Amino acid sequence: MNTLTLQANNPNDILVAAHLLRAGEVLAMPTETVYGLAADALNPAAVAKIFAAKGRPQDNPLIVHIADAKQALSLVREFPVEAKHLAAAFWPGPLTIILPKHPAVPDVTTAGLNSIALRVPNHPAALALLQTSELPLAAPSANRSGSPSPTTAQHVRDDLKGRIAAIVDGGTCCLGVESTVLDLTGGTPLLLRPGGVTKEQIEQVLGRSINVSPAVTQPLGEHEQPASPGLKHRHYAPKAQLTLVQGSLRAFVAFAKREKPDGLLVFNSDVEALRKAGLPQQILSYGSNANEHAQQLFAALRELDNRRLHTVFVRPPSQHGIGLAVYNRLLRAADFCEVKPNFVLGLCGPTGAGKSTAANILNAMGCLVIDCDDLAREIMQPGSAVLHELAAQFGREIVREDGSLNRGELAARAFANEDGRRALNAITHKAITALTLAHARAAQGRVVVVDAAALLESEIAQHCDHIAVITAPHDVRRARILARDNMTADAADQRMAAQTNMDFSGHTTIENTQDEAELVAKLRELLAKILPLDYAIS
Ligand code: TXA
Ligand code: MG
Repeated sequence: MNTLTLQANNPNDILVAAHLLRAGEVLAMPTETVYGLAADALNPAAVAKIFAAKGRPQDNPLIVHIADAKQALSLVREFPVEAKHLAAAFWPGPLTIILPKHPAVPDVTTAGLNSIALRVPNHPAALALLQTSELPLAAPSANRSGSPSPTTAQHVRDDLKGRIAAIVDGGTCCLGVESTVLDLTGGTPLLLRPGGVTKEQIEQVLGRSINVSPAVTQPLGEHEQPASPGLKHRHYAPKAQLTLVQGSLRAFVAFAKREKPDGLLVFNSDVEALRKAGLPQQILSYGSNANEHAQQLFAALRELDNRRLHTVFVRPPSQHGIGLAVYNRLLRAADFCEVKPNFVLGLCGPTGAGKSTAANILNAMGCLVIDCDDLAREIMQPGSAVLHELAAQFGREIVREDGSLNRGELAARAFANEDGRRALNAITHKAITALTLAHARAAQGRVVVVDAAALLESEIAQHCDHIAVITAPHDVRRARILARDNMTADAADQRMAAQTNMDFSGHTTIENTQDEAELVAKLRELLAKILPLDYAIS
């Protein structure tokens, strides 16, 4: 099908468009929120074309656009007084009201529901089309189902060229997110979708509080039925995997440096700081205040795909006013993937320097300590995957009858030659790394301390925000090892000499003298220097 481009401000083009609508065709029209894909709401064949062009699930009802509140009367069974107040206050405008449907409205328009969604759009071209055609116009957003709503004629063209009769080009939509959807068919009004008209504005007009569907900010449970069918379908989704990152810009920067997504979607005011921080990612921004975020969000989501980004970290807006609508769209675009970043401090150092003492102090300050020695034991519990792997490598004799590890036997076999040592390390380090990272990831919003002697040789180092090396004078370490591990002086010397990889350059070193209060002070000072404000330390 050839898709005509018509101009919104050309009266002749509006006549052509109205004629197409009366002939049962489907076309895209600008509204103040997003572009809509319009057809005669009372003509089932025309409405069916909308579903076909969008690839929209049949169970998702459409919004019916009308020229004024009067036109609603023939489409509903009743128009309650609260609807009248809301219409007077917000129509034309971005508020969709759900009311009991009149039998004259075909089932296909409302997806078989007994209710109908109505709104008067606040856009001269949409109003001109409604008045000229004298039809109620069913119009969902003019995107292919599942992708971000279109806010320019080009977005519509990208999605629907060749599938619809015409596009009425009215430039960029001024609001940018879809209308607020409010259900008035029950007792207390229920906000199904946040949009340009805020909850607070509605409550002020009604003089009472309204309910907000939990689906606005939470994913639906597996067997839950949504109040609005549209809520169950994946929406606004770019191909990129989005992660909404809560917290300060500084925490965001640290998190992005560590996790290395391909792209960052941030506020205008963040861009300079991000560039200064030397982040290598592609940076996109979506405005500098709530209205701009709304206006620019969908174009930005589309741009992520134009740039073929796979993983993108996003700074979400505040949830006040129209911010709630933006946040709601972002949550859906991200498939509800939202994190509070943790801050990972790696702790290493030579044997006897007091790593564990430092870890205990940090634990008392509220950090979550992951002790890799503990994990090394944990991964070799009876029946574990690691034990199986080790048995396959070194023989079944390394496992006792009761399923536990025979450490002596494993040591004898693994340390017999360099290959054995390497194989043992490969198996255990991989498992310890995976477990460490899983524990760390689960500790959202916390300061995580990873206590690992071999940290710098491990992949874990790449997942640390900061690494601190605990050191101590040689004699102090020797004395500590002797006291702690109950070994001979020779054995202690041997153990100290065995640690060859002592190049800690480039990392913070903390000298641990004998004085614990001093160590506490040094650790506190370190945290104050490296932690973004988001993290609470006692
Ligand atoms: O701003 C807007 O509302 C744009 C412009 C074009 O007007 N339209 C729009 O339509 O966003 P659409 O189809 O993308 O979203 C309509 C939403 C869907 O979530 C749908 O499930 C819900 O409204 N809806 C429609 N009729 C309903 C009904 N009778 N009961 C509950 N939800 C309904
Ligand atoms: Mg839509």
